[in-house]
Amino acid sequence: MQEVRDRISKLATGTAPVAIYGESGSGKELAARDIHAHSPRAGQPFIAVNCGAIPESLMEAEFFGYRRGAFTGANEERQGFFNAAHRGTLFLDEVSELPLAMQVKLLRAIQEWRGRKLGAQREDVIDVRILSATHQNLASVVGRGSFRQDLYFRLQVILLSLPPLRARREDIPLLCDAILRRLVPGASKPVISEAAMEQLVTYDFPGNVRELENVLERALAFSAGAVIDRHDLHFESLARTTSIGVFSSSDMAACASAYAVDKVVLPVCLPAHPASVECDLIRRALQQTRFNRSRAASLLGINLWQLRYRMQRLTIHDPD
Ligand SMILES: Nc1ncnc2c1ncn2[C@@H]1O[C@H](COP(=O)(O)OP(=O)(O)OP(=O)(O)O)[C@@H](O)[C@H]1O
Ligand SMILES: [Mg+2]
Repeated sequence: MQEVRDRISKLATGTAPVAIYGESGSGKELAARDIHAHSPRAGQPFIAVNCGAIPESLMEAEFFGYRRGAFTGANEERQGFFNAAHRGTLFLDEVSELPLAMQVKLLRAIQEWRGRKLGAQREDVIDVRILSATHQNLASVVGRGSFRQDLYFRLQVILLSLPPLRARREDIPLLCDAILRRLVPGASKPVISEAAMEQLVTYDFPGNVRELENVLERALAFSAGAVIDRHDLHFESLARTTSIGVFSSSDMAACASAYAVDKVVLPVCLPAHPASVECDLIRRALQQTRFNRSRAASLLGINLWQLRYRMQRLTIHDPD
């Protein structure tokens, strides 16, 4: 982590594009924010764009903005990402998801440093530092013909590669410390027992630092007191096989053990029971994350859409 930090502070001073590689959850966005924070542009905006989340038809308007009346529904002028990030940093997350047509426009913009709002006569000057990230091997996406080679070269002037957590296990105790400090502000930070730390440093963490965060957040909810012990740790790749959302009998057993209940009270009405357990788990996850749905979904090992669907079905509402 120290090596990555050193590299970040060195490359932060320049303006060359940086391409950040790393598995899911390895800290790519955090690294991008760090580069910005250490750069001379730190006082200016940092705009993160998830290239995979924008419908293709809106992409040009989202990046370049539009003038009033540029198209039906354009009732007022709107700034694009390039305008919003002016003099700051534009972080293109999941850059491999950009459609080819948008790649051409993006390349032109970052080669000529000019861009035109939809419906505008003249071009605006673009002044952003471009950072990009992907968990895919971009070279092979180029090989498949879904990513332009010229844009690929333009984006990776500097490469920053984030190793998976299992390749830097020595970081785990430090990371635990930082994460617990964040999760439990104040003086009463819980301690991780030796046996629990042993498990943490030997586990492979396919979900990297994000998974470590989730494991610790769950452990905090289950641990009895100031010490997180081995039995408080529940790893995601193990939990995945007994997905909380689908209630087979083995899932029920998994839930019972996950909640460390000594005595499982038999349900009065079995068919209604899964729903009530599900409801309870979702409520707990929401409370624990202060109603941050994305984080709650990730704690439960489901996606945001699945959480929304379940909340609707079980009529769970956010507090007013
Ligand atoms: N060095 C670190 N110290 C503390 N927290 C970290 C560190 N690296 C990553 N994290 C935390 O791990 C989580 C995942 O990080 P981040 O979102 O940056 O990963 P990512 O590589 O962008 O993931 P994805 O590929 O899923 O988008 C975040 O909550 C982040 O705060
Ligand atoms: Mg990310």
